[in-house]
Amino acid sequence: MSVRVNIRGQAAAPGSLADALKDVKLKLVTISGKGGVGKSLVSTSIAVGFAMRGYKVGVLDGDVYGPTVPKMLGLSDMTLYVEQKTGKIVPVTGPLGIKVVSIEFALPSDDTAVIWRAPLVNQALRDFVAQVDWGPLDVLVVDLPPGTGDAPLTIAQSLQGGLDGSVVVTIPTEISRRIVLKSIDFSRKLNIRVAGVVENMCCFMCPGDGKVYYIFGRDAGKRIAEAAGVPFLGGIPMDPEFSQYLDAGRLHEFLAKDNETAKAVLSIVDKLAEMYRDKLTQQVQPGREKPRRISLLKLPGEEEGES
Ligand SMILES: Nc1ncnc2c1ncn2[C@@H]1O[C@H](COP(=O)(O)OP(=O)(O)OP(=O)(O)O)[C@@H](O)[C@H]1O
Ligand SMILES: [Mg+2]
Repeated sequence: MSVRVNIRGQAAAPGSLADALKDVKLKLVTISGKGGVGKSLVSTSIAVGFAMRGYKVGVLDGDVYGPTVPKMLGLSDMTLYVEQKTGKIVPVTGPLGIKVVSIEFALPSDDTAVIWRAPLVNQALRDFVAQVDWGPLDVLVVDLPPGTGDAPLTIAQSLQGGLDGSVVVTIPTEISRRIVLKSIDFSRKLNIRVAGVVENMCCFMCPGDGKVYYIFGRDAGKRIAEAAGVPFLGGIPMDPEFSQYLDAGRLHEFLAKDNETAKAVLSIVDKLAEMYRDKLTQQVQPGREKPRRISLLKLPGEEEGES
C-alpha cells in the first residue's frame, strides 16, 4: 500500500518540468488581461468539457492569490499529498476523474490569504509545475492569474516550450477589447500559439423568458479576434443558473444539462479538440531530461516538518 503525507511542510522530490509534463499530450493555458472576466470559469469549463468528451484531463490552478478552481468543482475541502514512495505531489481527483492541483489545497483554511512576495510565488509555482505527478493526460488546462504581470509571466515562462495554446478570455466591453489585445501580445511574445478568443458574458440568458439578450452589443469577441488575426472560439452567455451551480461547486453538473449555455461551452471544447486533433491522437514520448533539485513548497513563517 502506498504511503501519503500531507503536503504542507513536506519535501516533494526533485523533478524537472519535462519529467512532470512528459505524458501530457495537450497543454492549454487561459489568459485575460483583466481580472474577473470569467477566466477560471472558462478554464474549469474547458477541463470539464474535455472530460465529458472522454479525455483524461488535469487542471493546474496557477492563481496563487485567488485560487477558485477547487471551489467550482466542489473540492474545497481536499488536501494535496506527497506520495512517499515517489516523493511526488499527487493531484486531487475531482468529478469525471479530473486531476486538480491548486495552492488552495495546501492552505490551512478557505479564508487564508496568500501574502507572498513575487519571488516566493514564483518558486511555489515552479515547484507545483515540476513536482506534480500528473500521470498520462490528454489535456492539461492551466488557469493563470489575471493580467500580464509577474505571476502569470512566471508560470507561463516555467511552462514555456511546453504550452500548445492560449485561450484568451474577454468580455464584450471597449475597455476589455484593448486589454485583450495585450493578452494576445503577451501570448505571442512568449511564443505560445493563440488558440483563440472566448467571449464570456456575450449575452444574458434570461431565466424568466428563456430568451437571450445582447446587453453589451453583439459579436464584440468575434471582432476582437478578427482584428488580432486569431480564431474566435465562441461566446458563453451570462447565465444566473450557471453562477448558482458554480457557487455550489457543481460546474460539471451544469455542463451535463441540456441548455444553451452548456451547449455554448461544449462547442468551444469541440473547436479546441478539432484544432489540436493531431496532438490529442499522438503517442507521447518519454522525457529524457535529468531531474534537478528544487526547493520545497512551504508557507512563509512555517517551520519545516509542521503539518
Ligand atoms: N457566464 C457566466 N455566467 C454566470 N456567472 C458567471 C459567468 N462568468 C463568470 N461568472 C461569475 O463571475 C465570477 C467571476 O468568475 P471567475 O472567477 O471565473 O473570473 P476570473 O476572471 O477567473 O477572476 P480573477 O481575475 O479574480 O481570477 C464568478 O463568481 C462566476 O460565478
Ligand atoms: Mg480566476
